[in-house]
Amino acid sequence: MLTLLVTGGAGFIGSNFARTVVAETSHAVTVLDSLSYAGNTGSLDGLDPTRFRFVRGSITDARLVDELVAAHDIVVHFAAESHNDNSLNDPSPFIQTNLVGTYELLQAVRRHDKRYHHISTDEVYGDLELDDPARFTETTPYNPSSPYSATKAGSDLLVRAWVRSFGVQATISNCSNNYGPRQHVEKFIPRQITNVIDGIRPKLYGAGANVRDWIHVDDHNSAVLRIIEAGQIGETYLIGADGEKDNKSVIELILTLMGQPTDAYDHVNDRAGHDLRYAIDSSKLRTELGWTPRYRDFEAGLAATIEWYRSNEAWWRPMKAATEANYAKAGQ
Ligand code: NAD
Ligand code: TYD
Repeated sequence: MLTLLVTGGAGFIGSNFARTVVAETSHAVTVLDSLSYAGNTGSLDGLDPTRFRFVRGSITDARLVDELVAAHDIVVHFAAESHNDNSLNDPSPFIQTNLVGTYELLQAVRRHDKRYHHISTDEVYGDLELDDPARFTETTPYNPSSPYSATKAGSDLLVRAWVRSFGVQATISNCSNNYGPRQHVEKFIPRQITNVIDGIRPKLYGAGANVRDWIHVDDHNSAVLRIIEAGQIGETYLIGADGEKDNKSVIELILTLMGQPTDAYDHVNDRAGHDLRYAIDSSKLRTELGWTPRYRDFEAGLAATIEWYRSNEAWWRPMKAATEANYAKAGQ
């Protein structure tokens, strides 16, 4: 049995990770989360208290981080400011959490010689042309577009430097866009699902030709567990499930699955600097670590996600009005 310190475990991916670890392994989990606007302790309800503990605090709090890192075997670092649109309105918390917070964690794992896994995004690579046959690999040069992706890129580079200069035992994963239960309603898929539930038309940025490479959150997390188990120290692994779809098609599919006409959506202001296309080549992870995704059918995964939001209105309702009010200010 190992003890895992999971930062950001009250957020979308981290909470699903904590739930999977407690359900499917014998490891114990401590979640460290500041409960920012994106954190929700309801996402951790029902976890076995003999193997799960929640600590409210920030990864920028050096003393708290040091104490918690010292008391665990492995740090799995999900905590972040995670939304591109917010980073365009106010980059400041992104600098603090994504850069300074990662620095504090790295210093603590360095002092206590602990295993560290760093969760990152494919957005560090910038974007691809729509008609480019290429996909991102572990050797694609970094070229981030937004304050969000720039701070994630900076945090990845800090990890690489701490591995090389200080011998920290770290691995990094860069994953494509996740979907599934417990994702904040500010993000594309849950925003549209909850809009339709509320009788609001879905909102498509620009023409909607932008492509994202969708992966179910449980597939992201099974890959993270595999990397923790078998990944080589100092290595980066790209996580993806061959799920490229343009935004317009995703909105049309949500409308169809929810019994609405496929044209019942609005075009709204485009995002500044909007990345065109992300696409991941995850051959290294599949070949070297033998990982494969379980969710091969996007339509079935999306239908299950719609059902989750229909059945869990109490979870998302408190954040919905404020989220839409923010978007309305930006004409989105
Ligand atoms: P999220 O916004 O749903 O959750 C982030 C969590 O971090 C929240 O619970 C929040 O309260 C917590 N947090 C924020 N600042 C903190 C701080 N200073 N100290 C402690 N906790 C803090 O994000 P998510 O979508 O679950 O993303 C998790 C990680 O996965 C991020 O590192 C993100 O960059 C990465 N990622 C996300 C996606 C995606 O599609 N969502 C894809 C690839 C990688
Ligand atoms: P998002 O979920 O914010 O993820 P990311 O910016 O990390 O890719 O957005 C996914 C895509 O959907 C992105 O191309 C922007 C677009 N989008 C919309 O068209 N409408 C929306 O209401 C939102 C939130 C996003």
